[in-house]
Amino acid sequence: MLDELRGISINLRGLCGLVVNLFLFVTPDFDQAEEWEKRHVWHPFTQMREWTTPDHHPLFIVSGNGPWLRDAAGRRYLDGNSSIWTNIHGHNHARINGAITEQLSQIAHSSFLGLTHLPAARLAKELIDLLPDSGLIRVFYSDDGSTGIEVAIKMAVQYFRQTGLPTKTGFAAFNNAYHGDTLGASSLGGIANFHDRFAALQFPVTRVNGLEELDRVDGGTLAAVVIEPLIQGAAGMRTWPAGMLRQLRQWCDQQHVLLIFDEVMTGFGRTGSMFACQQEGVVPDFLVLAKGLTGGYLPLAATLTTEKIYDGFLGDFSESRAFFYGHSYTANPLGCAAALASLQVFREERVLEHVASVIPVLEEGLEQLRQLPWVRDVRQVGLIAGIEVGAANGDMFDRRERVGAKICSAAREFGLLTRPIEDVVVFMPPLCVSADEIRFGIETIGRAIEAACGSKR
Ligand SMILES: Cc1ncc(COP(=O)(O)O)c(C=O)c1O
Repeated sequence: MLDELRGISINLRGLCGLVVNLFLFVTPDFDQAEEWEKRHVWHPFTQMREWTTPDHHPLFIVSGNGPWLRDAAGRRYLDGNSSIWTNIHGHNHARINGAITEQLSQIAHSSFLGLTHLPAARLAKELIDLLPDSGLIRVFYSDDGSTGIEVAIKMAVQYFRQTGLPTKTGFAAFNNAYHGDTLGASSLGGIANFHDRFAALQFPVTRVNGLEELDRVDGGTLAAVVIEPLIQGAAGMRTWPAGMLRQLRQWCDQQHVLLIFDEVMTGFGRTGSMFACQQEGVVPDFLVLAKGLTGGYLPLAATLTTEKIYDGFLGDFSESRAFFYGHSYTANPLGCAAALASLQVFREERVLEHVASVIPVLEEGLEQLRQLPWVRDVRQVGLIAGIEVGAANGDMFDRRERVGAKICSAAREFGLLTRPIEDVVVFMPPLCVSADEIRFGIETIGRAIEAACGSKR
């Protein structure tokens, strides 16, 4: 009897061991992962000496649902910057998940060089249909916002070279602009902290502060002007005066200069309309889309252009007029499938109507934040907001104090994730955000400002 009981107990122990082993196998060991992280991973825009200190424990995001993210400890956070301005319909959206899975069961990737596929053809048609009568009729795919800009740069230069104006190789761009980090895109950028350290490698750009300064520029050698329409993102959510785009279009037409709209951030409903340029009824020669193109699921970019530009590349093979540009993952089928599903969600869930209904909630919340003594300014376009903080006497904080970062750390403790741009706190939730979730986000930013600035006068 005793032996039998001992046998059962040994078996039970074995079973427990098995369960524990299984548990360890399926439950990732985040302490171990943190060690690998700190020893081997290098993060963008990050002082790694700080990142790797023993008392810094990086946040491991393990899942998402709608506008919410969950970390390894099971804590929930509102995704207050749409996972760096990419996510549109929320995380784990059944329609987009399904489309990617369906595409995956066919093929994940094949080359777009000399071959094609249905999702890319269909997506081009759907994108063009979003801009009826605009004259934008061609879609060139690449991988992300930066490469989408590179495409526009190179297309503009090669276009003039092949249409009898080879000296038009210059570009004009605005102060504080941000168009990406590849060398071409960063040449166009005008934010010292991002761009100046690579000045030796960047091509010269005619830099202007606003339209008035552009009026003094001779467009003779310019190929194109580039702008983030309605609002400059990385500059700290700075808005342009109304009517600016139309005037810019006129200037470009008079000067025979092409116009590039960088809608990498503003595209796909963020500003309240599908594209920012539609709010002023202005059509560019190049429209660059990325980030939200796939609903924020996968890297994919599209540079849209006109028949006129496209025609400049046609000719006999011997003339070598084809556009010389491409990447290995150009028009990745999974990305195209996600993008098609995202556009379907826009239609099925009447996303732009929802956005219109919650924009006033954000407006109201921002007005409340404006009352805080440390809020110097709030800027908003659609569901994009920047809250600029400073000393209660109106001065700016010393940037070395990193107050914006401290506010975001406090917000994280209260259940909101976002990143600052210096002392501007960004609030840009996924478009599926509810009125209550916006209120929660705003309230949390208010609490975080109080927590970080409360002792400052
Ligand atoms: C307006 C704008 N253009 C281009 C880019 C670069 O996009 P990506 O980071 O996908 O290369 C960004 C990124 O924030 C952006 O905001």
